[in-house]
Order: sequence, then C-alpha cells, then structure tokens
Amino acid sequence: DWNSGNVIAEQVERIREQVGSGRVISALSGGVDSAVSTALVHKAVGDKLTAIFVDHGLLRKGEREQVENDYVASTGVRLITVDARERFLEALAGVSDPEQKRKIIGREFIRAFEQAERDLMAEAAADGEPIRFLVQGTLYPDVVESGGGAGTANIKSHHNVGGLPEDLQFELIEPLRTLFKDEVRAIGRELGLPEAIVGRQPFPGPGLGIRIVGEVTADRLEILRDADAIARAELTKAGLDAEIWQCPVVLLADVRSVGVQGDGRTYGHPIVLRPVSSEDAMTADWTRLPYDVLSRISNRITNEVRDVNRVVLDVTSKPPGTIEWE
Ligand code: XMP
Repeated sequence: DWNSGNVIAEQVERIREQVGSGRVISALSGGVDSAVSTALVHKAVGDKLTAIFVDHGLLRKGEREQVENDYVASTGVRLITVDARERFLEALAGVSDPEQKRKIIGREFIRAFEQAERDLMAEAAADGEPIRFLVQGTLYPDVVESGGGAGTANIKSHHNVGGLPEDLQFELIEPLRTLFKDEVRAIGRELGLPEAIVGRQPFPGPGLGIRIVGEVTADRLEILRDADAIARAELTKAGLDAEIWQCPVVLLADVRSVGVQGDGRTYGHPIVLRPVSSEDAMTADWTRLPYDVLSRISNRITNEVRDVNRVVLDVTSKPPGTIEWE
C-alpha cells in the first residue's frame, strides 16, 4: 500500500547509488515537480546538489521570494538564482506572436541556465568532482505522453520551457517517474515543503509572457502581476483553490475600451479571468465561480490596478478554447 515515507526512503537510497561521488544540478521553476524532485535529491546527496533558478521576469508576484526564502529554508538546498529579467525583456521586445514568444523564452531560458552551469562546471572542475547528473521532475503522465524512453531527455515540446536542451551531457535523475501529481504533492508535504509551493496550481513555463496578448514590456508585466495577485488572493480567501484547476489572468494589452472612473473618462485595458475546472488539462470546463467572488475580484482589480478599467470572464470550454490564451 502506497506510503509517501516509503517512496522517499526508496528513492533516497536509489539516488545515492546512482550518484556515487559525482555532482548534480537541477533547474527549479517554482512549480511542484521541480521543487519535489530537487528536494528528494537533496535529501539523498546534500550539497553535491546545486539548484539553479532562472528569474526570467515572467513570474508571478512573490514567486522568486518563495523559492529563495521559503523553499531554501525548508530544504537547505544550495541555490543559485540567475537574474535574467533584462535579457528576456530585450529578447521579447517588439514580439507579439505567441509561438514566437514561446520560442524566444525557451531559447533564453536555456542560455541563462547554461551560463550558470558553466560557472558551476568551472568550480566543480577546480575541486575535481565533475557535474554528471541533472534532476528532472518528470512524472508518470509525462513519461506516457512522450513515448516513455527510459532516461532520455525527451520532454514534450509543449513543456519544453523550463525544460532543457537535448544535447546536455548529463545523466538524468528522475525520482518522480512512476508517480502521479497527487502523489508528488504528498511526498512534497512529507518532505516539509511550503504549502504555497506543494499546492500550487499549474503555471506555464513561459509564465506571464503568454498571458499578455501583445508585446511583453516591463510595464505590462507589472500591471498583470498586480491583477493576478488580486485574483489569486480572492480565490484563495473564498476557499476555491481545490475546485479550480487553474485560473489564468490575461492582460489584453492591445485592446483599450472607454470607462469612467472618479470624474474622468478612462481609456484602459481589459483583464480576462479564465478559471477552469479540469482533470488533466487535456479538456476543461469554465468554472462557475460565485458572483460575489467575481464581483470582489473585479472591483479590486479596477480600483487597485492602474490602466485597467474592465474585467471580463472567459466562459469557453476546452475545446474549442485552450486554457491559456496564447
Ligand atoms: P493549454 O493552453 O494548451 O494548456 O490548454 C494546457 C496546460 O498546459 C499549461 N501550459 C504549459 N505548461 N509550458 C508548460 O510547462 C508551456 O509552454 C505551457 N503552455 C501551456 C497550461 O497552463 C495548462 O495547464
């Protein structure tokens, strides 16, 4: 019978055997899978592991702090943060096409990660213990979906942001390969990870970059980050987190509409709420949120977030709509 304590003990032993005297690196995204797989490997090999967190500037409010403070405090993981915010903004300047954005974000992510990796390599070479392993938070459903070759770095293209280049010369450590999401969460809790990370709803690798319809700019990111934080806080306060699979908040940056605020006319942007219910994200239905919760979110966003004068609700299922807007 399934028991998270047993799985942890088993994996720790297995990881120790696999790693021997080599060094290990891991890419943390702030998401559940990378957080739990990294914590498991850390439990097994301690400071032979270095985790790398790329701040691409497309994160939600408080996410970097969550990783740097709460995650590190609860695990003791040795963490390197790469501040790549400027470089992502520069690369995304002038780009509105969704696929183009995804490609750019994926490419820049790999570059930022490789830079950190080279620095670490140099350090590792200096004390004679090469980096030989890379942690991946692959789950059982990912294995099934990608055709299941053992130990390959084959990540489905949809999820290849936060994923890594295929020509990496590392042996993979994939301690979650036989597990489902709820089991991964149970293990994370058993390992003492912060609930804010373990209970986190899915968030796409390209982050807020694909939730701004139009060009991504620092200014627009700030607006979206504020609106998103309000929606999340109100949904949590209303006790709706378990009912909702995820709730993308989208900024229609290329759309303006007329409004009235105080005694003046405004010409601002709409924010879209996209709450969905789903089992596996393959199909989804829009979540029938209580009107009073919608009303609170709308009031707060239009009052507190500059340049937003309208909040609209997406009532499309998947199919025909996807969950994300881009
Ligand atoms: P769609 O929009 O295709 O999204 O209905 C399905 C699920 O996948 C998430 N998503 C991504 N996750 N990298 C990820 O790691 C991505 O590029 C990406 N794009 C979408 C989305 O949030 C939803 O949960």
